Amino acid sequence: MWSLIAALSYPQRIIGKEGKLPWHLPLELRLFRQQTWGGILVVGRRTLETLPLPLPGRDVWVLSHSLAPQGDYYRVFPNPESLLQALSDVPKPVFFAGGASLYAWALQLPQLQKMFLTWVFLSVEGDTFFPFFAEHEWSLQRWELFTDKGIPFIRAEYERNSR
Ligand SMILES: NC(=O)c1ccc[n+]([C@@H]2O[C@H](COP(=O)([O-])OP(=O)(O)OC[C@H]3O[C@@H](n4cnc5c(N)ncnc54)[C@H](OP(=O)(O)O)[C@@H]3O)[C@@H](O)[C@H]2O)c1
Repeated sequence: MWSLIAALSYPQRIIGKEGKLPWHLPLELRLFRQQTWGGILVVGRRTLETLPLPLPGRDVWVLSHSLAPQGDYYRVFPNPESLLQALSDVPKPVFFAGGASLYAWALQLPQLQKMFLTWVFLSVEGDTFFPFFAEHEWSLQRWELFTDKGIPFIRAEYERNSR
């Protein structure tokens, strides 16, 4: 199963600020870890730079023109074609985990059937936004409200409608 996972501010859809997350929500990070455990995280190179490596319980695959082919704790793919080829026969769940450029690319993949979006109810400044997507192509399956350090957030699970 291929999924996308992101946390974005509501309603501005901000996901990043100066190369980092615009908030620190330990509970949200724990839920992210739980959700993605045992899977492959696919990220862009700028997001890789934010990850505390090695990342326990997950494989990290990176799209990048500039990185050397193999890092100590991650695999590098120089283009989407080589990444898709490698993903086509992995038995593990796959999570497209950002940033904005990677989300925009992943959203147009027909294999992407699920999204886990955390809507964070916080007014923040930022420079990186979750891309607009065709909302009519997706159905909300379930959602749950949490609060972390007084900040409410909703974890929402969407499935792509059958065509
Ligand atoms: N809130 C969230 O859930 C969340 C999740 C993840 C990230 N973020 C935030 O998002 C921001 C980073 O996002 P971003 O959009 O600036 O960067 P990004 O998507 O993480 O990384 C962009 C880089 O990925 C590589 N790349 C992307 N498409 C490629 C392609 N088709 N072929 C080869 N390489 C490709 C390129 O690396 P090279 O330059 O090496 O070629 C590109 O510069 C940060 O602030 C981060 O904290 C937020």
